[in-house]
Amino acid sequence: MLTHCQTEVPCPVAVAGAGVQAELSAGLCAPQATISPKFLYDPLGSRLFEAICELPEYYPTRTEAAIFARYGADIARAIGPGATLIDLGAGNCAKAASLFPLLHPDQYVAIDISRDFLHESLARLRQRFPHIEMTALGQDFSSRLDLPADISPARRLFFYPGSSIGNFTPDEARGFLRRVRAQCDPDGGVLIGIDLLKDEQTLADAYDDALGVTAAFNLNVLRHVNQLLGADFDVRGWRHQAFFNRDEGRIEMHLQAMRDMLVRWPGGSRSFARGDCIHTENSYKYRKSAAIGLLEQSGFQATNAWVDVDEWFAVIHARAIGP
Ligand code: AVJ
Repeated sequence: MLTHCQTEVPCPVAVAGAGVQAELSAGLCAPQATISPKFLYDPLGSRLFEAICELPEYYPTRTEAAIFARYGADIARAIGPGATLIDLGAGNCAKAASLFPLLHPDQYVAIDISRDFLHESLARLRQRFPHIEMTALGQDFSSRLDLPADISPARRLFFYPGSSIGNFTPDEARGFLRRVRAQCDPDGGVLIGIDLLKDEQTLADAYDDALGVTAAFNLNVLRHVNQLLGADFDVRGWRHQAFFNRDEGRIEMHLQAMRDMLVRWPGGSRSFARGDCIHTENSYKYRKSAAIGLLEQSGFQATNAWVDVDEWFAVIHARAIGP
């Protein structure tokens, strides 16, 4: 039988699983409407994020890359060869790939919620590094982390670059790092990139660029939610908003309704008045000492923290400690 969902016509029926739909619908119905930032990453969202990383205003990517370029040998010495490199939020896998010649991992495990994008990225990488055993896992690792049995438990290095940890509140970040710790043998560790507090204009500009790429990235979440939930968001009715929340030490991204709207989806609806916002992302910024503290409160001991000359960004290696 041919249903309308099997045609080329854009499918109005929700495509996500029940868990994802319940999560989205609960977020949209909350007093302060929210959409988790993990939903920013559909195939187009992953490409828009790649474009963000090229923007002059978006300093984290190039600053982190400069730290790896300058201290790569030190970083490799702290870690040693032969690790199982587990890339949390691998995206296009470019950061990990640039570390292969330094780290010489035995095995590479790339995990990303944007499954199709990940598989395409890893297929290209396999051709460039045929001697490294590679696995792609298209999964949401934010609330649970389970690795298949064929991933070696020895010498795991969890790679979490780009300050993605900033999407969690500090409490959530500790919970997440403890789950990572639970997946490590005593010889395991993490290599993590964390964005540091800096002047507020630099922070604000990084999330509200002149070309409007970040605006497109944020607005695209509504298209994705339409697809996942079968919702009927009119993307043109919303605008991007980003600002630094000094009290919380975080950038916040929101989508603001430009007129009164009713949004419907199978099993629910929400009305928005003009000016109402949907909170789509937090991006926490830390002091270097607080970043190290997060790790030490989660079963890790920092061996080294490398920063750029401006102290805008930190790359921290920490090893598992305790039981
Ligand atoms: C991928 C979560 C690190 O918070 O800087 C970039 C995402 N959002 N521009 C960040 C993002 C808007 C990014 N992280």
